[in-house]
Amino acid sequence: MTILSWVEKARLNAAAQSIRELRQGTIVGLGSGTTVLSTLELAAEKIRKENLDIRFVPTSYQMEIAVRSLKLQTTQLEEDMELDLALDGADQVQWRSLDMVKGGGAALLREKIVDSTANRLVVVVDERKLTKTLGGSQPIPVEIVPFAYSSTHDKIKRLSEKAVLRHGTGKVGPIITDNGNLVVDAYFRNLRRPEIIGEKLKKIPGVIETGLFLQMCDVAYVGRKDGRVDILRRG
Ligand code: A5P
Repeated sequence: MTILSWVEKARLNAAAQSIRELRQGTIVGLGSGTTVLSTLELAAEKIRKENLDIRFVPTSYQMEIAVRSLKLQTTQLEEDMELDLALDGADQVQWRSLDMVKGGGAALLREKIVDSTANRLVVVVDERKLTKTLGGSQPIPVEIVPFAYSSTHDKIKRLSEKAVLRHGTGKVGPIITDNGNLVVDAYFRNLRRPEIIGEKLKKIPGVIETGLFLQMCDVAYVGRKDGRVDILRRG
């Protein structure tokens, strides 16, 4: 028997409630990461039981593989340009604004494209991800083009407390995103006005996208340690 940690249980509880948002005939953007994967597994059971016609737009190879192995239907933004819903996870969620930091799995670029295309963005997290302010010990991932990366990295360093080129495990050297780019993790003291840093980062030539997802999340399902699930809506 598998013994689940409280984090895994909290995620599953939140995921179980979030999939009530899935309706017949919808096209759903699918973020990436471990929480979205658990959510997708629960969604697959619901889809089979209720014989629902739902198509998913995956944001990474991780999710593309998962959707196919669960025998669910995929589609692409090129075919279905309007998404009813996007389901995603997050690294940090500001508890009042529902502003988020994302990109711990380096899928931020496709996630931002897909999440911003959806009519409704639903996020599933466990309570450790809730925060008063974004940043602090949580870096802001920044996707950059490989060309002249040291100069881009340097410019990000000058804006931040510290900026580190992300290295992976299972591969020597820096990680390469699903789009063939690099990721710099930029640390900032608590971000009271994240939009200002977001704009400054985006102005650096070579920066493609940042992991600051501001004013995007509509509802967050937050799994608590005590088993409850809080449903937070953007006010
Ligand atoms: C992927 O790049 C991320 O944006 C994930 O959504 C985020 O890192 C949360 O991942 P976990 O659910 O694995 O914690």
